[in-house]
Amino acid sequence: MRALVVYESMYGNTHAVAVSIAAGLSTRHDVTLVPVTRATPELVAAADLLVVGGPTHLHRMSTAASRRWAADAARKQGRGLTMDPDADGPGVRGWLEGAGSLGSLGGQNTLAVAFDTRLSGVPLFTG
Ligand SMILES: Cc1cc2nc3c(=O)[nH]c(=O)nc-3n(C[C@H](O)[C@H](O)[C@H](O)COP(=O)(O)O)c2cc1C
Repeated sequence: MRALVVYESMYGNTHAVAVSIAAGLSTRHDVTLVPVTRATPELVAAADLLVVGGPTHLHRMSTAASRRWAADAARKQGRGLTMDPDADGPGVRGWLEGAGSLGSLGGQNTLAVAFDTRLSGVPLFTG
C-alpha cells in the first residue's frame, strides 16, 4: 500500500508524531511524509492511505489567525519556541478547504485517517 502522511506543525510536535507514524507504516508500506505545504494533488492521487495531522489551536483546527499568533509567540524572546522549518503557509484547514484542487483528496477507495496533537490535560480545557 502507498501511504501519504501529511502534517501541519508550528513548533515541531506534530511533525515529530508524523515522523513516528511514517516510521511505523514504513515497516509494511511505501510511505511519503510531507508538510501540508508540499502535499500536492499528484501525491494525494497516488496514495492508497492518507494520514493527515495538525495541532489543536483554541479547541479546534488551526486558523490563519491562530497560526499567526503561534508565529508571533515564537519570535518573542525567552519563550524557547522554535518554528518548524515548514511552518509557513496555509495549514491543514486551508488545504482541506482547497480539496477541490486536490482532486477531491484521492480516489473513491482511498483510506484516510486524521490525528491531532494538543496539550496534556482535561479535555474540557484542552479541546
Ligand atoms: C495559538 C495556539 C493555540 C492552542 N490551543 C490549544 C488548545 O486549545 N488546546 C490544546 O490542548 N492545545 C492548544 N495549543 C497547544 C498545541 O496544540 C500543542 O502544543 C501542539 O502539540 C503543538 O503542535 P506543533 O508543535 O506541531 O505546532 C495551542 C497552541 C497554540 C500556538
